[in-house]
Amino acid sequence: MVSVIVAVAENGVIGDKNTLLWHISEDLRNFKRVTSGHPVIMGRKTFDSLGRPLPNRTNVVITRQNLEIEGCKVVHSLEEALSLFSPEEEVFVIGGAQIYAEALPLADRFYLTRVHHAYEGDTSFPKWNESEWSLMESERFERGEKYEYPFTIEIYERI
Ligand SMILES: NC(=O)c1ccc[n+]([C@@H]2O[C@H](COP(=O)([O-])OP(=O)(O)OC[C@H]3O[C@@H](n4cnc5c(N)ncnc54)[C@H](OP(=O)(O)O)[C@@H]3O)[C@@H](O)[C@H]2O)c1
Repeated sequence: MVSVIVAVAENGVIGDKNTLLWHISEDLRNFKRVTSGHPVIMGRKTFDSLGRPLPNRTNVVITRQNLEIEGCKVVHSLEEALSLFSPEEEVFVIGGAQIYAEALPLADRFYLTRVHHAYEGDTSFPKWNESEWSLMESERFERGEKYEYPFTIEIYERI
C-alpha cells in the first residue's frame, strides 16, 4: 500500500531552498509515529535536506545519479522503489515535490497536515483532486506548543 505524507502551507508551499519553513513539534511527532517501522521513499533532494537516514525505517532514495548513500537503498525510479516491498506493506512517500507528483496518483492513503498560514517558498505540493479522497480523520490545533499558527492533521483514503 502506498501512502503519501506531507505538510502543506495554505498557499501550497512545502519548502524553500531545500529546507522546511516551519517547525511544528506535534506534526514531527505525528510523522515519526506514523512512519516508524515502515519503509520511507524520498527524492534525493529531500534526503539531502534531512542529512541522514531516518532511524527505524528502511530509507529509499530516488536519484538519476550513480550514488551510494550509507544506510539507504538507492534506486532510479519510484517504480523501482515500490518494487522493493510487498503490496501489503504500508510504504510512505515522504517527498519532495517531484516525488509527490509521481506518487500521488498511485497512493491509497494520504496523510496531510494543513498549515493554516501562507509561506513564501520555491517548492509546492502538486495540485490534487479532493473529490478522489475521503477524509477519515482530522484533528485541528489552534496553535502548537511552540508554533503560533493553527494547523490540522488529516488522513484521507482514496475513494
Ligand atoms: N513539507 C513537507 O512535508 C516536505 C516533505 C518533503 C520535502 N519537503 C521539501 O521539498 C523540497 C524538496 O523537494 P524537490 O521537489 O525539490 O526535490 P525531491 O523530490 O526531494 O528530489 C528531487 C530529486 O529526486 C530525483 N528524482 C526525481 N524524479 C526522478 C525520477 N523520475 N527518476 C529518478 N530520480 C528522480 C532527482 O535526483 P538527482 O538530482 O540526484 O538525480 C531529483 O533532483 C525541500 O524544500 C524539502 O524541504 C517538504
